[in-house]
Amino acid sequence: MEKGRGDLTTSVCMQLAKKVKKAPMELANLLADALSNDESVEKVEAVNPGYVNVTLKAPILFASLDIVTDACEPKKANGEKPVVMDYSAPNIAKPLGIHHILSTVIGQSIANVYRHQGYEVISVNHIGDWGTQFGKLAVAYKKWGEKPVKDHSLDDLLALYVRFHEEVESHPELEKEAREAFSEIEKGNAELKSFWSEVVAITMRSIEELYQRLHISFDKTQGESFYEDKMKPILDEGVKKGVLKEGKEGALIVEFPEEAKMPPAIALKGDGSTIYLTRDLATARYRIDTWHPQSMLYVVDIAQQLYFRQLFETLSQLGWDLPHLEHVYFGRMRFADATMSTRKGNIMRLEHVLDEAVKRAEAVIAARGDKIMTDDTAALAEMMGTGAVVYGVLSQNRTLDMVFDWDKMLSFEGNSAPYLQYTHARARSVLRKAEVKDLPHVTVSELTTHERTLVKLLLTFGAVLETARSEHLPHKLTNYLYEVCQSFNSFYNSDDILGASSELRSARLSLTSFTARVLKTGAELLTLRVPERM
Ligand code: ARG
Repeated sequence: MEKGRGDLTTSVCMQLAKKVKKAPMELANLLADALSNDESVEKVEAVNPGYVNVTLKAPILFASLDIVTDACEPKKANGEKPVVMDYSAPNIAKPLGIHHILSTVIGQSIANVYRHQGYEVISVNHIGDWGTQFGKLAVAYKKWGEKPVKDHSLDDLLALYVRFHEEVESHPELEKEAREAFSEIEKGNAELKSFWSEVVAITMRSIEELYQRLHISFDKTQGESFYEDKMKPILDEGVKKGVLKEGKEGALIVEFPEEAKMPPAIALKGDGSTIYLTRDLATARYRIDTWHPQSMLYVVDIAQQLYFRQLFETLSQLGWDLPHLEHVYFGRMRFADATMSTRKGNIMRLEHVLDEAVKRAEAVIAARGDKIMTDDTAALAEMMGTGAVVYGVLSQNRTLDMVFDWDKMLSFEGNSAPYLQYTHARARSVLRKAEVKDLPHVTVSELTTHERTLVKLLLTFGAVLETARSEHLPHKLTNYLYEVCQSFNSFYNSDDILGASSELRSARLSLTSFTARVLKTGAELLTLRVPERM
């Protein structure tokens, strides 16, 4: 026998051995002996070099499944200070690219798990709605625009933007015009300001559609423009405290201690214009003053790692009373399918990738023919296709580079959304066929190997959610759900559920019902949806 067999293992004897000057095995034998008389213990053994393994009695283990119900319910508000989560944050006037899905779904799923665990979350979409790109667009529109701004689609805006970049090659003076136009917007030029707000509205409408499709929502959309009038006081404070110093050509810079090994950061350009960092300083101040959060999480690309270290260090130099600050970064996305990565320059639009995923899901459904049951193929394909892409992202450790792989994402057997959805539908279909409304409270006298494994796995759901939350790692939840699926399917394939005699049948149905609940709860926290039949 090795350590880890049984339902519980303890190494406490090894820790105690030194204190009481006894051999660990001697203590382990003593403890095992004492435990063997406990009424909840079925079997206990002491193993080298001093572990004790305990196997619980089946009825005890089975009865503890009640805690799974608790784990599936959103916890009561814990009364702590809120957590501010900053994710998605696309830049305005451009369509979402496939890479935008990373911050968007990683952020949303972490926010969901926090809320489920009883935390108050304030989710903010810090859209990039300020900057010279608006000046470029304004110039392009003035020169080549052919219809009222409001009649432009996002694609029309993109075309104008692209045209600007083409024309600027031969007419470099356009660059200056664009800067001037943006500075007019900053000064509040009414016409340009209304152009700007039309552009924001057009972009947001198209982005909202995607958010709905992916079950993404925000408490606040406060983009960079929101901080326009909130930067000056911070800059003044920074200068007064000596944190912001005059750099080259009148710029304001922040310097960092030698050991931080970071180049200085620019907080204000020489021409007096504010930048990304200026806005993030004001953003932090605003969020702290408004919500008094316990932590502020920024779910942003790993490429901004240096930037966030500089931001956090600057905030601390300002001497503010800061909450926990964390850059919840994620790696780059690589493509298993070479044709997807060679389309250089051209961004792959998220919308198109999702449509392609749904098309591929339709093909998978058609290929499986009778093995798939559904009353609504289109809805199932949408759920499966978008789910496959989202799960494909969330199931990978966000701190590493990720691989986008169609076959893996759409597989019915692997660690994928379709497998999770299929397993949920299978469990639900067993419950439908059983035609029981409320499962009676049952006890079992013994458990098969598969049942025992499944029960033990289900019992850890709450702990897994807590780990996924505190470590900000959604893949810990997907890995777990994958294990539950595998365990349930082994149980389903070897232990007859519907044909079992009454008590056993009820117990197995109850196990099936717990499984379905855990899968559905977990999936929804990950922004996925699971079908009743499939
Ligand atoms: N819009 C930025 C980008 O696309 C991301 C913003 C992240 N949030 C923040 N507070 N800096 O790179």
